[in-house]
Amino acid sequence: MSNHTVTNKPCLVTLEEGKKYAWCTCKRSKGQPFCDGSHKGTDHRPMVFKAEKSEDVLLCACKATRSGPYCDGSHNNLEDEYAEASPEEIKSMEGSVFVDQIDGKAVLDGGAYVMTPVETGDNVTGNLRYQPVITKEDGATKLSLHRLLVSPGTTPWLEYKDVDTVLYFVSGAGQVDIAGVLFDVNKEAGIYIKPGESFRIITDQDMVIYATACPMLTELTVSNGHNSSFDKNQVERYVAFDMATANVMANRFYQELVDTKVGSMEVTQFIGQIPKSRAAMHRHLYEEAIVILTGYGRMWTGTKYTDVKTGDVLFLPHRQGHSLECTDEGGMMLMGVFYPSGSPAINY
Ligand code: FES
Repeated sequence: MSNHTVTNKPCLVTLEEGKKYAWCTCKRSKGQPFCDGSHKGTDHRPMVFKAEKSEDVLLCACKATRSGPYCDGSHNNLEDEYAEASPEEIKSMEGSVFVDQIDGKAVLDGGAYVMTPVETGDNVTGNLRYQPVITKEDGATKLSLHRLLVSPGTTPWLEYKDVDTVLYFVSGAGQVDIAGVLFDVNKEAGIYIKPGESFRIITDQDMVIYATACPMLTELTVSNGHNSSFDKNQVERYVAFDMATANVMANRFYQELVDTKVGSMEVTQFIGQIPKSRAAMHRHLYEEAIVILTGYGRMWTGTKYTDVKTGDVLFLPHRQGHSLECTDEGGMMLMGVFYPSGSPAINY
């Protein structure tokens, strides 16, 4: 069933395994996203497809997708401006309650939160300091996030047992040793580590790194040795930010870093830039962690809002309505990571 009102935004529908559907391609149907016969007399025909499994999906309503019948985020490029909050929407949220941080954390609607990592929360082992910033106790169900602070030297071996690991390098440079294979790494880049592989950081600088484990919530294990082996079937692991290959959406851009191209099938990591603006309230089907790399603003979630600034970590449960407002003239840069994998441009 879909309750879609006619807009370019995708339709959230529940598919039933084995059932056939006719997706409207002409945009004339009054029953979007499905065909109601209104294409009669045109060259258009519906796209008939069979659901492989029962699941909630976002079907394209703008008909500009290149992945029909599914939304691929193309609706964001159909207008000159990214979908920003309308004056009516801003007015409707005037009664929102400002939430201040308590013990470094501001909890918003639906368990979404903004937290500011502080070094007093760090565990210390050798040249590594680390602290969990998104965990099961925070309401996460699929992904966890640790902040790692590395000083010059070689860290112990690290591993999230049996899950995918994705690292993002906020600052500094060095090498990541994945089960005996070395990768040079720099800031504004990500790397993918497969389940069963241990890793360590080697550097002569101070580094700030965010580590995501997904799709199960497990502890970061620390040890002096390892007996894992590097999966040679997936040699490419490292992706650096490159403006030349970034996806431009109106006056903002994003680039997927770790995703299927480096073998990450479950989780997607991206880096994005947003100008001074306030996004329209929207939702994703995925659970997401965001780190504010530069800039400041506010996070709105319906009835509550709070401030965000460089270094803050945001947690968004799946389907939680939210709007990130950038109030910084210089714009805001952020890193996001989410499960299940896909495009950060897909929302409803
Ligand atoms: S009504 Fe659009 S394809 Fe049938």
